[in-house]
Amino acid sequence: MVRTTISQLLAAVTLLSKTSAYQQRRYIDNSSGTPEVIVPGASSYNGLNLVPQMGWNTWNAFHCDVDEDLLLTTAQQLVDYGLRDLGYNYISLDDCWSIGRNLSGYLVENPIKFPSGMPSVIARIHDLGFKFGIYSSAGLFTCGRYPGSLGYEKEDAELWASWGVDYLKYDNCFNQGQSGTPKLSFDRYNVMSQALNQTGREIVYAMCNWGNDDPYDWAYTIANSGRMSGDIYDSFNRPDDRCPCTEAPGCAWPGFHCSIMNILNKIPAITSRTMSGYFNDMDGLEVGNGGQDDNEYVSHFSMWAINSSPLMIGTNIGTISPANLAILSNPAIIALNQDPSAGAAIRKWRYMVDPDDYGQGEIQLWTRVLDNGDTVIALLNAGNMTRMMNATMDDIFLDQRTAGAYRAPPELSQTWDVYDLWANRMTDQEAGAIINGTSGAGSNATNPRFNATATSYAEGLRNNATALFGSRTGSIAPSGTFSAEIARHSVGVYRLRSQGNTSTRKRDEL
Ligand code: GAL
Repeated sequence: MVRTTISQLLAAVTLLSKTSAYQQRRYIDNSSGTPEVIVPGASSYNGLNLVPQMGWNTWNAFHCDVDEDLLLTTAQQLVDYGLRDLGYNYISLDDCWSIGRNLSGYLVENPIKFPSGMPSVIARIHDLGFKFGIYSSAGLFTCGRYPGSLGYEKEDAELWASWGVDYLKYDNCFNQGQSGTPKLSFDRYNVMSQALNQTGREIVYAMCNWGNDDPYDWAYTIANSGRMSGDIYDSFNRPDDRCPCTEAPGCAWPGFHCSIMNILNKIPAITSRTMSGYFNDMDGLEVGNGGQDDNEYVSHFSMWAINSSPLMIGTNIGTISPANLAILSNPAIIALNQDPSAGAAIRKWRYMVDPDDYGQGEIQLWTRVLDNGDTVIALLNAGNMTRMMNATMDDIFLDQRTAGAYRAPPELSQTWDVYDLWANRMTDQEAGAIINGTSGAGSNATNPRFNATATSYAEGLRNNATALFGSRTGSIAPSGTFSAEIARHSVGVYRLRSQGNTSTRKRDEL
């Protein structure tokens, strides 16, 4: 690191205070690529993605079957169904979009799939109020064997910036053996990170190296999110030999066909590596793709949300069912994902219970402290039958109890109101009316949906927007226990709000 004198530092601070966040980013990532000034409290390596990215990605439903009509039609549907305004504001094109490189070394889009040319498609996506994501691989080829970006990082970043790209998903296939140690992977992914920064355009950098070489240990200084597992598939808990790891750290062969429970069970060990500006990416959502029942999709969506995973819809919006639209459209759950605390949840306990057809069966309690002092709890029943589940105050506030503080944690002596965050899920009738165009999104009085384009989730939370708080179902007294009946393969998600004087509590914490 280059040493800075006090006067240089003061000059830099003056400069920073006069410049926009983006200019600050440019200053920090100066052209030599060596950071000179570390801004205290800077929470993202490039100033972007302070809460997880949300949007729609082509891969899970369409694989290589992509073209400009699909992108533009889907973007319009996301607008019409109110999904863009719930925060799903990236259209992310995955693999299989190019045909090769031209003589100057620049990638060329497939003219049959994208006859208008990529810049025109991207401009139209922007006009619909979205940001646009492109895909490549830190290898010779992409996973679908289209040209990769290894050795062409500068050209590709420049081209994408000139097209107006806002987001890069960067895969790990055909990496020429440049993996196997964190340093090899770091260096390879860092080349693209620097190339993106040097374009001068704000481009969110979503690493997709499947947790290889433990990215949760090194990627937050060069990227905005990092996949932490092999590829998801549309099964709640079916084990598959092609996804051999059950733990994230040290997984040498991430594979694919990883179930929801497989991916979720890899998260607890690495939750501390989720932070504002860098998120553990649990992979695109499978909600709507038909491999899971309603309870399972509710669990999948809820657990991705509370763990601050990017929420990228991965289904065909054109054929989405009312029930699946209702799941993706629950602002009270999305608000957990977009909470300014930008942390992950903590799994407080896990017990093995009645196994199902796959020999799987377990129950878990997850909790997370939110920015405004609320605590969310998730009672996950991945067992084979409906059961009563309990969360004691001691378990919910285990970390506060064991923090070694000089006095008893105030949380334990407070009464907490419990808000069920799935209570106001849209009915199938309401969601069906949105799909049929007979009800404008947001016009429903009993389920006031949230418009994140107009008001950010952070602001909505500050103003106690009712759509973000579910419905009050009871309270937990000091030393009490919260109990709820949870269906097979389902989850109850509850926001606990202190009846105590939260402003006093906040002051205490300062
Ligand atoms: C995988 C990646 C998937 C998808 C696919 C495209 O490596 O994890 O999310 O992008 O490649 O070929």
